[in-house]
Order: sequence, then C-alpha cells, then structure tokens
Amino acid sequence: MGKQRIHILDRSIAERIAAGEVVERPASVVKELIENAIDAEARAIAIEIRQGGVALIRVSDDGSGMSRADTPLAVERFATSKIATAEDLDTIRTLGFRGEALPSIASVSWLEIVTRTRDEVEGTRVRVAGDQTQLGAAGAPIGTQVTVRDLFYNAPARRKFLKSPLREAELIHKTVLAYALSHPHIAFRLVVDGRETVNLAKAAQREPSQGLERIGAAWGREAAAEMIEVDVASLDLRVRGFISRPSLARAGREWQAFFVNNRPVRSGLLAVMLERPYAGRLPPNRHPLAVIQIDVDPRQVDVNVHPRKAEVRFYQERAVYNAVTHAVEQALRDFPLSQPSSADWSFAQSFDAASPLPALHEATPEYGSGAWRAIAQMHHTYILAQSAEGLVIVDQHAAQEQVFFERLTAAVSGQLSAVSRQIQLMPQEAELLRAHLEEYQSLGIDIEPFGENTFRVTGLPAFVRLDPLELITALVQEHERYRALEGDALRDKLASKAACISAVKAGDELDAAQQQALLDELLQAYSPATCPHGRPVFVTLRLEELERRLGRR
Ligand SMILES: Nc1ncnc2c1ncn2[C@@H]1O[C@H](COP(=O)(O)OP(=O)(O)O)[C@@H](O)[C@H]1O
Ligand SMILES: [Mg+2]
Repeated sequence: MGKQRIHILDRSIAERIAAGEVVERPASVVKELIENAIDAEARAIAIEIRQGGVALIRVSDDGSGMSRADTPLAVERFATSKIATAEDLDTIRTLGFRGEALPSIASVSWLEIVTRTRDEVEGTRVRVAGDQTQLGAAGAPIGTQVTVRDLFYNAPARRKFLKSPLREAELIHKTVLAYALSHPHIAFRLVVDGRETVNLAKAAQREPSQGLERIGAAWGREAAAEMIEVDVASLDLRVRGFISRPSLARAGREWQAFFVNNRPVRSGLLAVMLERPYAGRLPPNRHPLAVIQIDVDPRQVDVNVHPRKAEVRFYQERAVYNAVTHAVEQALRDFPLSQPSSADWSFAQSFDAASPLPALHEATPEYGSGAWRAIAQMHHTYILAQSAEGLVIVDQHAAQEQVFFERLTAAVSGQLSAVSRQIQLMPQEAELLRAHLEEYQSLGIDIEPFGENTFRVTGLPAFVRLDPLELITALVQEHERYRALEGDALRDKLASKAACISAVKAGDELDAAQQQALLDELLQAYSPATCPHGRPVFVTLRLEELERRLGRR
C-alpha cells in the first residue's frame, strides 16, 4: 500500500477557502451585513467604514436582534433562521438563506456582534477570533451591530487583489445605494473615514411615490423629475419602478438598477430588454436611467446559482425579459418616436399594448424552428433564407456574434465546458486581469489567479471553442484599449470581443444543417436585428418589392 496523501482539511482552512467565494472584497461584507439587517426588518441601517473597509466595517441596525441563545449559532456555518427544509429553498423570500455569511466573514477577520431583542433586558456580545468564540453580556439598544476589523488579515493573497481604499469605498458606496434604491422605506447612512457620504431618511411617502422620493434623494431631484412610473402586473409577475423620459439619458449604464424580489441583480440582458422600447426615442449610444423591480413568485426563480447571489435564474426567462420590455413600452407610449428605429424587423414580438402581462405559465409567442428556412450560403459569408415576407440575407458572422453575446451577458449562468489550463501573462496584463477578475468571471469564464503572473482556467462557456490562452489574451488586449471601463460596461466590451472571436467568420463554409441551426438560434435571440457593435444582422427583400421590380404589380 502506498502512503496516504489525501486528508480532510482543518476546519479553519476549509472555512477560509469557502469564505473566498462569499467574501471577495469589503463591499461583499457590506452587502451581506446589509442583507441581514433588511431580513431582520430594520427601519434604519448605518454603515461605517475605514480604509476602504479593510480596517473597519460596522453595520448597525434597529431590527429584530438576536437572543442570547441564537447569537453564537449565527456565526456557525450553515446556521440560519431563514430556511429549515430543502423545500424552503424553492420559496425564498429573504435575502439570505445559506447561513454562511457570518462564519465566512469571521474566518477572514476579527468579528464582533452586539445585539439585543425586544424581549431581553440585557444584550449579548459575541467575539470570534480564529477558532475562539467568546460570549458575554453587553448593554445594547434593540437591534444588531456587527463590527468587522482587519479584513483578510490572514488571507494576504486576497488583500493583494484589493483596489485602493478609495476604489473599495466607491464599491461600498454603490452597494449601499443599490439596497437603498430597492428599500425606500429604510433609512440608510454611510460614513467613510469619519465623513458622512450617504444620509437617506426613510421615504415619507407611500408606495409607489416613496420609490421616486428615494431616487431623488440618491440620484438628485433633477433626475427624479425626469422619471416616469412603470407598473404592469399579471397573476404571478410584476414589473414596477421608474424609468427616465427619453429627454434624460447617459452615455453609460451605471444608472440602471435591476432587482428581482428586492435583490439587486446584474444582467446585460435586462438592460437590453429595458432599452428596446427606447429605440428611435433616444440617439444611439445613449442609455436611459432606470430602477426596475421584478417581483416573481419565488418558485419561479433560482437565487442559489451565484456564490454572492448577484445572479439569478428564471425558470421562464423569456416571459420575464419580455415583461420588462412590455412594461417599458407601456410607460413610453406617449413619447413620440423621433428617430427612425434601427430595428427594422417585422417579427418583433409585441404584445397588444392594452393587454396585461403574459402570465409566467403561458407560452409567449416564439419564432421557433422553421420560421426562416435556410436556402443556401452565398460567398461563404451570407445565409439566404426564406421568410414569410420574402428573402432574408443574414450576415453569418454578425448573427452568431449576437447570439453568443446574449449568452455571455445573460443574468443566468450558462452551460460550462470543463477545461484545465494554466496561462502565463505579461505582468501588466496580469495586473489588469487581477483587478477585474469579476468581470471576466461574469462571462462564465472560470479563472483564478495561480501565482505571480499565472492564472488557471477551469471552465469556459460551452459554445466557446477557443483555446483558453487565445481567448484570455485576446480579451486582455481588448481590455487594455478600454482601461477606463469597469463593471457592466467592461463586461459588455469583453463579451462583445469574446463573441466576435468565437463566432463563425466570413468565408467559413456552413452546411445546410449549420445554416438552419444558426437561423433558429438567431430567432431565439432577444435582439436579433443588430450585432453587439450596432451593425444590422440581416436585410429583408420583401416579396412586394420583388414583385414591383420584376413588373408583377
Ligand atoms: N443583523 C441581524 N439581525 C438579526 N439577526 C441576524 C442579523 N444578522 C444575522 N442574523 C441571524 O444570523 C443568522 C446567520 O446569518 P448569515 O450567516 O448571514 O446567514 P443567512 O443570512 O443566510 O441566514 C441569520 O439567519 C439570522 O438569524
Ligand atoms: Mg445573511
């Protein structure tokens, strides 16, 4: 028998590894603590940070508090008051549910909780330092105060990847604003290095005006004055919130916030669906402002797909996405189209403007297989197809590029193909990639630092057939051209590059089955008429036009 080499890791190491998933940076700590305060039905949440949150994060709330008996459990792994059975996972109404935030934070910092419930006269203090948990009495108001000191003191690699304290503080600021926008009935205060940077009183007005009041407080009165209400509901789906009139738009999408059952989510596709009805009402490259809440039956959404719960999966995603477009369309009805719409395509799914939203369980109209029939490939570059209107000439590269782009930017985690490959980059490239790893990962690229300038790629979106080295170096080169970008704006640029280099090229021969498959996929796309660069994907030669030119009419 050979020597035994596999052993179960010490609990403290195992927890530190697991913590890496949840606690990526100070903003993720703030996010988890705010979520806990909201779940405890706080009416006021105060956040204090020092040195970008690395030296100190303190979140105080006036919520339910924890009893003496519960407090030490809260810092145990998989200990939660929010779910009890496996079935509960399907109907989550709280922001938290995994019971791993507090233990994860405790494993990479010095954590202290002071808390008191309404029923207790004396509060409780818990301190966690390494493997030691100390429990004692403390004078405390009703509610909870969690203090996190010296974050990542025992995880130097994590610390190295952090940005400057100023940038980390900005990310925390964004996190606080996101929750503030979706919870106007809660007061939020943020103090950065002793200076108050956010102070939002709980909205005085009732719904829905309180949402607008909060937008005014967070984004400014001028912005709020230009926002209009969106609210369309069906049995099991509601899209509500505020969008800007076409008179107000920005160059980027930073002012678009989406929430699913009050949970902030990131999604390029939701942005696409929001912006569709603005086509022809806004100049190209201008983006509306929006705060959009999507309320769905918790059974219709899986919130357990992302370690930091930043993404969700809808079981009926098409219905949800279309509902967003429909709701925005309704709200914009009275704003005239000033520019001709670039989306010159006749099969756009439009709902009867007066009808309510389709319910999730109803099939939405689809243009499935056979709606366009591939006839031939021309010059190894264009697919000719017969449609009900006439002849469609599809740019094969642009078509697949758009299909891939949508898959890469969807809120949903797509299918992955496993690879395992170490790649070595130049130091400047490695630095750029490390600083924005999350944007790369959000495309479905499983990539982790693996030493100085080395990274390990363990998964790629299934349709990407490229060598990981080829893909990553192409993306980093593109990234270097857009150094100023970050977040969703960067993610979109990277997605468009990845889509471009993965797609079939002009000159690639496609057999009949491949031609048809590409057409079918294109018709399933949300925005099939234009590629990510804004160029048209196809042109239609209508039968009437043909008949006219051939003298048949
Ligand atoms: N601010 C708070 N107020 C009241 N209870 C809290 C607070 N923070 C945490 N808790 C309690 O501690 C438990 C564990 O918290 P956490 O580790 O974040 O897991 P989760 O939120 O997934 O349940 C929660 O289920 C809740 O009962
Ligand atoms: Mg939690």
